[in-house]
Amino acid sequence: SNGVDRELRAPICCILGHVDAGKTKLLDCIRRSNVQGGEAGGITQQIGATYLPVENIRERTSLKAVATIKVPGLLVIDTPGHQSFSNMRLRGSSLCDIAVVVVDITRGLEKQTIESLDLLKHRNVGFIVALNKVDRLHGWKTCPNAPIAKALKNQSEDVQSEFKWRVTEVVTQLKENGFNAALYYENKKMKEVVNIVPTSAVSAEGIPDLLLLLVRWVPEIMMDRLTYVNNVECTVLEVNEDKDFGTTIDVVLINGALSKGDRIVVCTKQGPVTTNIRYLLTPYPMKELKAKGVYKHHEELKAAQGVKIAVRGLRHAIAGTALIVVKPGDDLERAEAAAVQE
Ligand code: GTP
Ligand code: NA
Ligand code: MG
Repeated sequence: SNGVDRELRAPICCILGHVDAGKTKLLDCIRRSNVQGGEAGGITQQIGATYLPVENIRERTSLKAVATIKVPGLLVIDTPGHQSFSNMRLRGSSLCDIAVVVVDITRGLEKQTIESLDLLKHRNVGFIVALNKVDRLHGWKTCPNAPIAKALKNQSEDVQSEFKWRVTEVVTQLKENGFNAALYYENKKMKEVVNIVPTSAVSAEGIPDLLLLLVRWVPEIMMDRLTYVNNVECTVLEVNEDKDFGTTIDVVLINGALSKGDRIVVCTKQGPVTTNIRYLLTPYPMKELKAKGVYKHHEELKAAQGVKIAVRGLRHAIAGTALIVVKPGDDLERAEAAAVQE
């Protein structure tokens, strides 16, 4: 099939990298939010999820040829870079379709960059390198929101030459870690050679390039994987207590649909628990799932989405495990066994 009448779901993109490379700030730049500014010590300590509808991405890229985008949006998973949160990096990389590894251009590959690369290598997950903080190159003239090629043209020879040697250094370091990589606009083998996109989370140079790779190129290379199917595939990210909703679980709905009232099985520290979805909630588009805020209520939600589910009995649910939907007539014992196995 050429995929023309397939329904594609939003790709799930996990942001990985060393602490302070600019992962959250890049998302803030795209969302026009300030999540990073509100973090204790400027350090991310929880996994996050944000849905970016295609209309917002279009506006961010000032892209005219909208017909070429075949996905409804992008679901972005933010992870912490601090060394103590490797479990969250593992969780994020386990459920994504593609990763963005953020590297600070002034620092090159660092410890958790390499840890992230190893994780992706072992799980065979494709990724793009965002070579961030280009605005910190000495003498950089900012061109807010410009595609990177345009921004680079605007720089002095000195800046351009610093840019070149720093890119070469990162390419060498990636090579030492087993990856061939190239600036994406010079990359003639996009499927085999890792794409590098220079970015700034402060002045937004390269943001249009990064978004376009994610919503146009990624769906092109993983059409089958992104084809919507009705089987629920869903992972628990976090368990919270909410003053209005009681116990809530934040989940990533990877495929299929969830409905209010659905009977679900989730693994807890006391074993599998069967319960019902009391409320099916999402933050507003472009808002972080983990941020306290106003939620939208839904009767039904289709993948891919970051979802907050209000439930009874799941206070001790285990993050990283699967949520399983039990349809009328399904074998409950089998579902419970499956929940434990995941
Ligand atoms: P962790 O989640 O704690 O691992 O960090 P992070 O990768 O999310 O980095 P974060 O967004 O917290 O940014 C770290 C610092 O770098 C902050 O002070 C940001 O303002 C700054 N920063 C991030 N991106 C850029 C950039 O492109 N240019 C400049 N000049 N500063 C940046
Ligand atoms: Na940080
Ligand atoms: Mg962060």
